[in-house]
Amino acid sequence: MTDVIDAHDLRKQFASRGGPIEAVRGVSFAVSEGEIFGFLGPNGAGKTTTLRMLTTLLPIDSGSATVAGLDVAREPENVRKRIGYVSQLGGADDLATGRENLQLQGRLYGRENDYVAARVDELLTLLDLSSFADRRVKTYSGGQRRRLDVGLGIVHGPEVLFLDEPTTGLDPQNRANLWEHLRRLRERGTTILLTTHYLEEADALCDRVMIIDHGEIVAEGSPRELKREVVGDSVVLRVAEEGDGHERARALLTTAPFVSSVTQADDDQLRCYVEDGASALPELLRLLDSQRVGLRSISLSEPTLDDVFLAKTGRSLRDGGPAAREEVTA
Ligand SMILES: Nc1ncnc2c1ncn2[C@@H]1O[C@H](COP(=O)(O)OP(=O)(O)OP(=O)(O)O)[C@@H](O)[C@H]1O
Ligand SMILES: [Mg+2]
Repeated sequence: MTDVIDAHDLRKQFASRGGPIEAVRGVSFAVSEGEIFGFLGPNGAGKTTTLRMLTTLLPIDSGSATVAGLDVAREPENVRKRIGYVSQLGGADDLATGRENLQLQGRLYGRENDYVAARVDELLTLLDLSSFADRRVKTYSGGQRRRLDVGLGIVHGPEVLFLDEPTTGLDPQNRANLWEHLRRLRERGTTILLTTHYLEEADALCDRVMIIDHGEIVAEGSPRELKREVVGDSVVLRVAEEGDGHERARALLTTAPFVSSVTQADDDQLRCYVEDGASALPELLRLLDSQRVGLRSISLSEPTLDDVFLAKTGRSLRDGGPAAREEVTA
């Protein structure tokens, strides 16, 4: 497969009062045609800065990148013609209607009126915007507005679409709806690079993910590969509320040879990592039973991308970031 995006050792530094900020510190990766590739990382990780360099909006300090086979630094004009970009803030004019916004954008790309009118109709259908296309954008819901933003990014039929946090602020239902639309675009052959701090989004939507922290890549691969590589399965258990059961369970699990680590999970739950959940579960139950530690519940779960982030950085992505406050179950 051809690489549609190829980045080599990208670096970017910003001057600030407290001294230089190394926003991007040697980022290399490649994205194949027709992939949805996600940058996952906490606030300030360098996601937007990397995206802005790839989309020619910010000069590259050092390193190099090609997009659609064109060198970003040497042929910015040509790169711009082949890509779409939807910023973190979106770009629709509130006082115009959705249709007018799309028409204007199409004409900005220098397309003739007939082409633009047909293309706008196609996009309104593709993104489920038809029923309110002639209403002013200021009356749109968050999800409707974000779909329009995506439409604005693809009016000119780009090969590569860059989306900066396409679903931030959307509720789980709207988020899942936008994922469906992005999958449809991928089916039509568009390569998509997006940033997110939602673990669930990276997991559900992206073919491959790059986890970025403090300007550096800490992990890269398909969600499944990443999870398999870093940790085994996790078992979450809640001890019956009697005496010091919780503490005793923790001590027992910590010393059990088949448990690699034990951490405190939400509301009095213990989470332990084991290599193979299916075989560890009966052993775990036997161990706790032999010491008369009663359980209220026990569940086995596959690792999440947060487990990967935790293993690579020692911190949880859920701490503090928006992902900590919003959960997605779609
Ligand atoms: N124009 C700028 N001038 C100075 N510092 C900047 C500038 N743009 C970004 N930074 C700094 O570079 C670092 C990376 O910022 P960036 O916007 O790339 O992060 P991000 O991963 O997109 O974060 P978020 O999830 O909050 O959008 C941050 O420390 C940020 O404050
Ligand atoms: Mg950003």
